Amino acid sequence: MNSPNNISFDKAREQFEKIFCQDSSISGDKFSFDFQKGQSRVKFSIPPLTDSILFESITVIKSHIDNIRIVTFEDGHYSIQALNKNIFNAENITKNFKIDFFSLINSYLEITKEGNFTQEEINVILKIASLFNSDLSFNPTEKLKGLGASVIDGRGCNWDQIAGYKEVKKKIKETILMPLSNPEIYDSITRITRVKPESNRPSAILFEGPPGVGKTTAARIIAGEANIPLVYIPVESIMSKWYGQSSQNLSEIFDLCDIMGGAILFLDEIDSLAGSREQNMFEATRRVLSVLLRKLDGIDSSGKTITIGATNRLTDLDSALISRFDQIIKFPFPEKDERASIFKTYAKHLDEETCLVLAERSEGMSGRNIKDVCEMAERRWARKLIIRNSEVTPPEPDYYRHSIQIWKNSSVTL
Ligand SMILES: Nc1ncnc2c1ncn2[C@@H]1O[C@H](COP(=O)(O)OP(=O)(O)O)[C@@H](O)[C@H]1O
Ligand SMILES: [Mg+2]
Repeated sequence: MNSPNNISFDKAREQFEKIFCQDSSISGDKFSFDFQKGQSRVKFSIPPLTDSILFESITVIKSHIDNIRIVTFEDGHYSIQALNKNIFNAENITKNFKIDFFSLINSYLEITKEGNFTQEEINVILKIASLFNSDLSFNPTEKLKGLGASVIDGRGCNWDQIAGYKEVKKKIKETILMPLSNPEIYDSITRITRVKPESNRPSAILFEGPPGVGKTTAARIIAGEANIPLVYIPVESIMSKWYGQSSQNLSEIFDLCDIMGGAILFLDEIDSLAGSREQNMFEATRRVLSVLLRKLDGIDSSGKTITIGATNRLTDLDSALISRFDQIIKFPFPEKDERASIFKTYAKHLDEETCLVLAERSEGMSGRNIKDVCEMAERRWARKLIIRNSEVTPPEPDYYRHSIQIWKNSSVTL
């Protein structure tokens, strides 16, 4: 039976063709993918099999599929089979994912599976293909970069980077991190509650809030905590750069995230591409919006990519788009005690009382504004130290008070 994680034939073919058909040595009759009598089958030619590639392939398979057995037939035919829990049930083995290496007269690989492949199985196939041909660009990270995305490793990011915001952090942990780290629990619930098993895990979350309140930082932290990459898309700049290609590129970005085995896909300033449909909208923008709506429905997704959209103009967003998000998390401006803790983060030498005084005077400022003020105080202090040729000490509280004033005066005139 097809589980909700299985990828449709067309979607799988798109992924295979993206990798196989761009490389002339493997394309054409050297690669085939079909679905017959309920069975998916991928076949591609390979250079003569070496021991080391066979061994590396086993390692790749093993890293994705726990239970495998290796069967050798005549010389040059090895079969690697995913096993069910019951290893003695030979009937099930043929239904499962199976990779056959043939290195007899012609060398080729045949991968079969009863039903559709899962994303994980597609990833295994693509990785093994890349072992045979290093030119086969199974390098989703490079491809994503080519499309203008930044792929950020969130390791080293942690919640200490956002002072205060207890409520926001709690919501993120509950709605995003818990499902990412315990998917099986969420899935087993739907198995006993739904007529048709489907995922109840969130696939799209919207971060709403003014600039500088920690939305991007939170996305980095999520990626770090969940140990998956953050694919950052600055929507506005990318829309102009991609002119004419936008909808295909966006669609490809979603696929590449799945090919990577999942990611946090962060669409920053999502309002710039998805303005309300009632307004006059360029045809290109309309197409992008329709791709986005379809992708967020997530019918074909692996369930491992979570899209986070960020906006400071919720009211400008298309209502169909808003409805695709499982949850909206609001990032407000920081409250007074939160501002005090943000000051403490960027000026740890100040005592609590001073931080509270600074917080009092910085109403309406974002975390970024406070960070900027602290930097300004440090730079003004550094100049003083240099001019007086004095020993390095931390800036006096007055420098922070004064910097808030300068910041306020300059932002009024902006
Ligand atoms: N609550 C906070 N505590 C500490 N630093 C913060 C806080 N909020 C924002 N910042 C800092 O402000 C800067 C901008 O934050 P960012 O996450 O880019 O905001 P946004 O994406 O909402 O515009 C970052 O360097 C971040 O560390
Ligand atoms: Mg941001």
